[in-house]
Amino acid sequence: MLILGIDTTCDDTGVGLVEDGVKILANRIASQHSSHERFGGIVPMIAARQHVLSVNLMIRAALEEAEVGWDDVDAVAVSNHQGLLLSLVVGTAAAKSIALARGLPLIGIHHLEGHIYSNLIEHPHLEFPFLCMTVAGGHTMLLKVVDHGEYALLGHTRDDAAGEAYDKIARRLGLGYPGGPIIDRRAANGNQKAFSFPRPMLNKNNLEFSFSGLKSAVIRTIDQLEKAGEEIPVDDICASFQRAVVDILVQKTLRASKSEGLDRITLAGGVAMNSLLRSELEKEAAARGLETYVPRLNLCVDNGAMVAGAAYFLQKERGFDDLSLDARANAPLGARGLRYRHESKYRE
Ligand code: KG4
Ligand code: ZN
Repeated sequence: MLILGIDTTCDDTGVGLVEDGVKILANRIASQHSSHERFGGIVPMIAARQHVLSVNLMIRAALEEAEVGWDDVDAVAVSNHQGLLLSLVVGTAAAKSIALARGLPLIGIHHLEGHIYSNLIEHPHLEFPFLCMTVAGGHTMLLKVVDHGEYALLGHTRDDAAGEAYDKIARRLGLGYPGGPIIDRRAANGNQKAFSFPRPMLNKNNLEFSFSGLKSAVIRTIDQLEKAGEEIPVDDICASFQRAVVDILVQKTLRASKSEGLDRITLAGGVAMNSLLRSELEKEAAARGLETYVPRLNLCVDNGAMVAGAAYFLQKERGFDDLSLDARANAPLGARGLRYRHESKYRE
């Protein structure tokens, strides 16, 4: 079954074509970063307008890349849940129009479900249950993926998401947007031990996260250096901050793996692209005899292939949707109607 997947959740327009959930024929992504960079964050109205401009072009480009025509496409899937409402509406309307015009079955996917399924696209033999550290711009949570479409929330952030902390610190340092990849690059030239930033919740025997205290500590340090008229050691700040984030994420993931008896660990979401997170998690997990599975980089970024992959497996579980499909900025995840803290970024 060939599924066209559309993701316009945030600031990337992604369109993918995936066969039987795992064979990626195309995965086109139009990034809007340059449109938002000067604002230091995403401007929802600009994001929506850029999606309107890009979505048809990306669909055409994906069909061309896959060398298929509309007659080859069996269904259309879209991230209609979780994200910026104005952005979600564009992809949802596009998918519904295609479904109506071509008489194709339609399925709505929760954006985070797409991120989680990028692991199953990359590693088709990955067995349930597995642990998934879902770490993105709007979310940081540890999930037990019980089966297709079934998740148990083990822990989540009480305030900022990890990606949000990256973005806000990069903005304070005047490094641009999105902050994650820039800080990741700058950290490579810095000293991880130059500053001793706090690791909130790390010593608490739970699976909860908090990144707002760490973010404030980093910003306070920058303020103090500036006030003292000292040069800001940007690379060292980036490296020390990144080390703190990765220590927290890795240690909590290992704790969850141990307490839940989950030997298979996966990563999902934009921050899963982080070079230190990927290497440290693999190293620490291997030392404990645990297996790590990470998606390739262009499956961690917001993309349409993950939506098409998730749709293939989830339509078997819960069937297709009809043309009344709605878009929602906040929505529960999965068969158990899993609710988690709604991030301010995605408030309707
Ligand atoms: O998955 P995503 O687009 O957002 C949500 O679905 O919420 O992830 C975007 C986030 C941004 O905060 C961005 O700064 C971060 O992922 N990010 C990274 C890296 N690349 C992207 N964070 C750390 N290191 C990276 N290499
Ligand atoms: Zn995302």
